[in-house]
Amino acid sequence: MRGMARIFVTRELPGPALTKLKETHETVVWPGELPPSYAELCAQAAQSDALLTLLTDRVDAELIAASPKLRVIANYAVGYDNIDVDAASAAGIPVGNTPDALTEATADLTFALLMAAARRIPEAASFARNGQWQTWEPAAFLGADVYGATIGIIGLGRIGQAVARRAAGFGMEVLTTETRDQHNLEHLLRRSDFVSIHLPLTDGTRGLIDADALALMKPTAILINTARGPIVDREALAQALHTGQIAGAALDVTSPEPLPPGDPLWQAPNLLVVPHIGSATWSARERMTEIAVENVLAGLEGRSLPCQVPQQLFD
Ligand code: DGY
Repeated sequence: MRGMARIFVTRELPGPALTKLKETHETVVWPGELPPSYAELCAQAAQSDALLTLLTDRVDAELIAASPKLRVIANYAVGYDNIDVDAASAAGIPVGNTPDALTEATADLTFALLMAAARRIPEAASFARNGQWQTWEPAAFLGADVYGATIGIIGLGRIGQAVARRAAGFGMEVLTTETRDQHNLEHLLRRSDFVSIHLPLTDGTRGLIDADALALMKPTAILINTARGPIVDREALAQALHTGQIAGAALDVTSPEPLPPGDPLWQAPNLLVVPHIGSATWSARERMTEIAVENVLAGLEGRSLPCQVPQQLFD
């Protein structure tokens, strides 16, 4: 232990674990309902030994270069595309994330979106609530079968595998692929009734689901994205929904977030959007706080982080 450090936490977090930081270090928690601006984040980082950031905080090379005291960055997410990990590594700063804690919660949400879109649940619920429900109707709200359908899982990491386990319980045929295998990806897109994305956002996955990819999908297929918005080309998706190229899309993530009120994607039919709630269960979010806190403490104490992002190499 090197004495009291200054830690900047960019939002109050669920669960009791932040207390552990507050008791031992000068812990400044951003009080706003919205994230600190980039300028505010830079100003805070410049005086801090540790940052506990959210996926909405951009931690780039410029910020890192202007933060000479910084010894650890703990991201409150499994994804870390908001952080320039190469710049942090070059500066000798370990970056932590929160894997495992949210795997099952995100896989559950993936299935919730899949089923909601397949069975038109949001639409049917509004219909019932709005007093339009007059009788049992043989042809109302007909949707797609889930049981026995084919699901294509793009990205077979922790969350992709957890989705595959759920799909097995629904008697689904499961097709999987990693992005690099173009032939396999095309086969998956052509064959699947549901296509679900479980990739990190990288230069290689940005825009992966573009007009060409959507054109390969069945007109009855539904796209589910609980990974990162920019993996899907949103203009191409809007077009594919308008023209009936695909039957629907259910998105937990968009590009940008939030999707602005006037964005053309909002006009697309058969679109379900929820506000990035994949990991939003009490236990997942509390566990994420615990892991992020442990990452901060380990970084401050010069220990290796319990959950350090994979591609960081130090001499
Ligand atoms: C993550 O962890 O990357 C999710 O997007 C938010 O929990």
